[in-house]
Amino acid sequence: MNKPINSQVSKGWDSTAEVFAKYISPANISTGFSTLFAIDALNATIEDPNKEMTILDIGSGTGGLSLYGTSKYKNARFISTDFSPKMIQILDTFIKELNIQTIESKVMDGQNLEPIKDSSIDYTYSIFALIFFPDIVKGMKEMYRVLKPGGKTAIGSWCLDSFLIKVFQQTMDELLGNNSFKQVALSLSDKQVFEDKLKEVGFVNIEIKRVQHPMEIQETTDLIKMFSVNPVYFDCLEALPDDKKPLLDQTIINVSNRLLEGHKRNQNGKLELPSFAYIGIGQKN
Ligand SMILES: C[S@@+](CC[C@H](N)C(=O)[O-])C[C@H]1O[C@@H](n2cnc3c(N)ncnc32)[C@H](O)[C@@H]1O
Repeated sequence: MNKPINSQVSKGWDSTAEVFAKYISPANISTGFSTLFAIDALNATIEDPNKEMTILDIGSGTGGLSLYGTSKYKNARFISTDFSPKMIQILDTFIKELNIQTIESKVMDGQNLEPIKDSSIDYTYSIFALIFFPDIVKGMKEMYRVLKPGGKTAIGSWCLDSFLIKVFQQTMDELLGNNSFKQVALSLSDKQVFEDKLKEVGFVNIEIKRVQHPMEIQETTDLIKMFSVNPVYFDCLEALPDDKKPLLDQTIINVSNRLLEGHKRNQNGKLELPSFAYIGIGQKN
């Protein structure tokens, strides 16, 4: 297996935790960008919102899924896990601020959930997190192991035509040559591969749903502020030869402007970045 890159190690995500928390926090509990996809995953799997249940979020970041979940699922207990101590530290401040008793947070690698017992969880989720694991199947096997029989899982993955994915791909194609750079986050961007991996692990009643929510920005230059501490951006930077590194930011802006040509601003005066994801759903037999 290749050496893990920035977006596959906890330090890489520690560095973006504070910026991440600006978008996923108690101030935007049901409107945070990735939370909108977490809500899709919850809605696609939980039939009875009043049921007593244990919900495990893997790669929770600053806790978007659980923070939203406590407001909707009154009889649920949440376990929010992430391998980035900084993400969990910020989630802990949110839990304290809101005086939430039903979210337990843990620093944990999603490829090894050992402290969590077999067949003890009703629902497992991983929204745009498992896609970064060096061993995707190992992560899925752990989700399967901890689920009760009949329990359900939902995993969020970006689609190839999502704006941010396209920006990074076209930028790197322009700087390095076509198809020389492969984004780790695209590990489950092929619907058939996604389905096959869930099947391989043993999940049944598999469904891959395509969903979309726009990301709003004021100007394309804002992307650079957002990316400047992001491990995915550092993966790109490190893949470039020294003479191309200084061109990365401007190329991202040029590609973004090109992709948004002809797009009108929305009623809030913002640019909407089309963002598509697959939610892969499976059930334990
Ligand atoms: C793009 S963020 C998504 C966070 C959150 N799920 C959300 O949707 O807001 C990816 C998260 O996955 C976490 N992550 C990546 N690899 C991981 C691993 N092997 N084990 C646990 N967490 C991991 C990162 O630390 C980061 O918080």
